[in-house]
Amino acid sequence: MNAFTEKNGELHAEQVPLREIARRHGTPCFVYARAALEGAWRELDRAFGDTPHLVCYAVKANSNLGVLDILARCGAGFDIVSGGELARVLAVDAAAAARTIFSGVGKSAGEMRAALEAGVLSINVESAQELERLQQVAADMNMTAPVALRINPDVDVRTHPYIATGLNRNKFGIAAAEAHEVYRRAAARPNLRVTGVACHIGSQLLELAPFTASVERVLQLARQLQDDGAVLEHLDLGGGLGVRYRDETPPAPAEYVAALLGALRKQRMRMKVLIEPGRVVAAAAGVLLTRVEYLKRNGAKHFAVVDAAMNDLLRPALYGAWQEIRPVKTAGEAPEYTCDVVGPVCESADFLGAGRTLRAAPGELLAVMSCGAYAAVMSSNYNTRPRAAEVVVDGARHFLTRRRETVDSLFAGETVLPH
Ligand code: LLP
Repeated sequence: MNAFTEKNGELHAEQVPLREIARRHGTPCFVYARAALEGAWRELDRAFGDTPHLVCYAVKANSNLGVLDILARCGAGFDIVSGGELARVLAVDAAAAARTIFSGVGKSAGEMRAALEAGVLSINVESAQELERLQQVAADMNMTAPVALRINPDVDVRTHPYIATGLNRNKFGIAAAEAHEVYRRAAARPNLRVTGVACHIGSQLLELAPFTASVERVLQLARQLQDDGAVLEHLDLGGGLGVRYRDETPPAPAEYVAALLGALRKQRMRMKVLIEPGRVVAAAAGVLLTRVEYLKRNGAKHFAVVDAAMNDLLRPALYGAWQEIRPVKTAGEAPEYTCDVVGPVCESADFLGAGRTLRAAPGELLAVMSCGAYAAVMSSNYNTRPRAAEVVVDGARHFLTRRRETVDSLFAGETVLPH
């Protein structure tokens, strides 16, 4: 489903002209489409058919409360990596705790306490020391913590090295060779109950083979643990399915789920299956709206200076990521030019796109596509730039789900030394 389409010479989000949103809320501004979010989550959910499963949306991809609420209303589970993300999930739906898994290599005791108090489905433990800390926290609370061991399956994936997580040299997970020993320890701790095995091998993955390879590793280990007496209830196969930003050809969500289920069936493993998708649910559901401030030339090089910058969208600067940039006025008369689309931040890495051919005059709007995931969540206040507004479109209506920050609010917590 394409949420952003051209009608009457201009780009719309569902039925709302993007121009109208920019007029109401200013730029830069993130715009998310409800139907696309729901559609993407439901497509994965449906693909499981009657296999017991839970599609746990990875909150890190886009944690706007408006977005989380939409998915919570679909019955989504959630994958969180911090106490902050837990608080967001609870803020939209307290009952969603029971559908929430807590991942991440560095959980603090306070975060563990909050997760146990809320009653999360599973805490994915990533090291022996973390296990001991969780035992301590659970014992202090007189509770039993539901635990999944996140293993590192040591599977190589073709993606940007910063977002590959399933190799032994990455900080994530417990090495498969040690998982057995860690499980024994967990089984001997009175306040821990090992209920699952988890993995996650990376993000923006465009091939099925690494996913099925990691399922096989996880299954191998699950069998060993069962032989050891573990009563496992679920397998968590992580997230990572890629999307098309430019000309990538990722597997369709249904193909991906079918491949996971196929690998499980081969081993006759019958357990509830969890996945933790972020990007594939949210990326295509959002755009970043920005306005062209100036066109300029330095020597042979042309630039469109826009009002969004690397503090709003870090992916191009951090990963060299390519995201499509489209004029909002699709039938513009401005002359076509080829330029780098850059922001006002004082870094040469501050670009949203390089060598783009555009037709947009100063004052006109551009939409950076596929900004529903890993865009607003990675924004910062660098150069004391207030973070952008976020808007959710639902059919012909639109709602401001995060107001633009003000400069005052940026230094509200700061003080000067006494005079
Ligand atoms: N589960 C775990 C444990 C993860 O670490 C991640 C992503 C996910 C699930 C969701 O993965 P997804 O389905 O979204 O690929 N900032 C980067 C992406 C970082 C992903 C980190 N982990 C980017 O902008 O490309």
